[in-house]
Amino acid sequence: MQSNPMQAQDITAVRGAFLDFTGDPFRCNERDSVRYVKDGLLVLKGGKVEAFGDYGTIAPQYQGISITEYPEKLIIPGFLDIHVHYPQTEIIAAYGEQLLTWLERYTFPTEAKFHDEDYARQIATIFLDELLRNGTTTALVLTTIFPQSVEVLFEEADRRNMRMIAGQVWMDRNAPDFLTNTAINSYQQSREQIERWHNRGRQLYAITPRFAITSTDHELQLAGKLKAEFPDVYVHTHLSENAQEIAYTAELFPDTQDYLEVYEKYGLVGDRSIFAHGLHLSESEFQRLSQAGATIAFCPTSNLFLGSGLFKLHRAKSIDSPVKVGLASDVGGGTSFSMLHTMSDAYKITQLQRQNLSSFKAFYLATLGAADSLSLSDKLGNFDLGKEADFTVLDLHATPLMTLRNGTVPAASLDVLEAQLFGTMILGDDRTIAATYVAGKPLYQNPSLLGEV
Ligand code: GUN
Ligand code: ZN
Repeated sequence: MQSNPMQAQDITAVRGAFLDFTGDPFRCNERDSVRYVKDGLLVLKGGKVEAFGDYGTIAPQYQGISITEYPEKLIIPGFLDIHVHYPQTEIIAAYGEQLLTWLERYTFPTEAKFHDEDYARQIATIFLDELLRNGTTTALVLTTIFPQSVEVLFEEADRRNMRMIAGQVWMDRNAPDFLTNTAINSYQQSREQIERWHNRGRQLYAITPRFAITSTDHELQLAGKLKAEFPDVYVHTHLSENAQEIAYTAELFPDTQDYLEVYEKYGLVGDRSIFAHGLHLSESEFQRLSQAGATIAFCPTSNLFLGSGLFKLHRAKSIDSPVKVGLASDVGGGTSFSMLHTMSDAYKITQLQRQNLSSFKAFYLATLGAADSLSLSDKLGNFDLGKEADFTVLDLHATPLMTLRNGTVPAASLDVLEAQLFGTMILGDDRTIAATYVAGKPLYQNPSLLGEV
C-alpha cells in the first residue's frame, strides 16, 4: 500500500520486539503457539491493528507515519484480568480471615460505602488507573448491589475507552440489610443497565449473582430469565472456593447434587459464564463445565491469601475435557493487581501439586487464553490484523536484579525469551510496566522511564 498525507495523519506505529500467541500452548507444541518478532512494527489505525510484522517488511509500506520506538523492551498484548472486585480495592491485604468471615468483617462494610456515587467514582478511578499501571487493559469486574456503583464504573471505563465487562451484584439473603436488594429490583436494574451499557462503545454486561449463598431460588430464577432474554450477555459468579462455603451451599440447596447444579438449574451455565475459583470441583463438575463451554477464573493470589485451596490447572486444561481458564487477580481477596504477581503465584500453586507452568503458558493465560475464555478472542488477545490495539510495553530490566537475571533484551532466541519471561513473571511487578496502550493510545507511561522514549 502506498502512503498518502491523509493516511499519514490517522496512522501511527510502534516499533520494538513483540511477543504474542496464535494458538493454545496447552494444546500444541508450545513453540508453535508463540509469535516472536524481534524487530517488529505494529501499525495502528482507528484504535485497531492495521498491519503487523517484521519492521523491514512492513515499514516501507508506511513511509511518513509517526513511529514510537521501544528499544530494549518487549511489547505484548494488554493483560486481561477476568475476575476482580473494584469496590474491594481499598481492603486489599485485610488480615487474618478465611472467606466467609473475611466477607462479613471487611468486605460487606466496605461495599456498603458504594451507595455514595461520588465515593464510588473516586474508587472506580483509582481502580482503572491501577489496572493500567499494571498493564491490564480489560477486566471482568464485580461492582456492588448499588446501581450507581455500576454506572460510574462504566462511565469511567467508557471515558478511557477501555473494554470492560461488569454488572450489578445481586444479593437478596445472607448478608446485612444494608447490603441486600430485592430480587425484582436486581432484575429490573440489571435489565436497564444491559439496555444502556451492553455493547455501548467497548462496554459489555455481566449478570452477576454474587454466589449461591447470597441468592434465593427466586433470585437465581430471575437471573436465568434475564440471561434467556439477553443471551449474549455474560454470567459471572463464584463457584466452589472454600470448604465452609460449599457445605453451607449444600444446606441451602438440599435438592442439588453439587454446587454447579445450583447454577445449572437456573440456566446460568453456558459458554459466556465465568466462575471464579473452582477449587474443589468433582470430576463430574469439571466435565459439565467443559461440555457447557464455561470458564473458570483462576485467582492464585486470592486462593493462597484466603487459604482457600489449590486450583487444579492441569485438570482444567486436560486434553480430553478441557475447561476454559483465564488468570484473575480477585482483588481484594487477591493481593495484587499485577498479572505478573498472579502468574508467579499460579506457578507456585502448580508446583505444590507436583505440576508446572511454563512462562509461555502463563503469559497465554493472561492474554489470548483470557480473551478466549471471555469469548473475545476475535477482538483481543494478540496482534492479528483488525484486533483492538490494546498492548503493554514491558521493561525486562525494571530492577537491577531483573537486569542481571534477564540479560540482553530483546532475546536472540525463543529459548532465551522463554527464560526471560519466566524471570519476569517471578521477579516482575508494576515497575516492569513501561507503558500501557488502549485502542492505540498510550494511557499510561511509567514515570521512571519518561525521557527514555
Ligand atoms: N465469594 C462471594 N463473594 C466473594 C468475594 O467478594 N470474594 C471472594 N474471593 N469470594 C467470594
Ligand atoms: Zn471474587
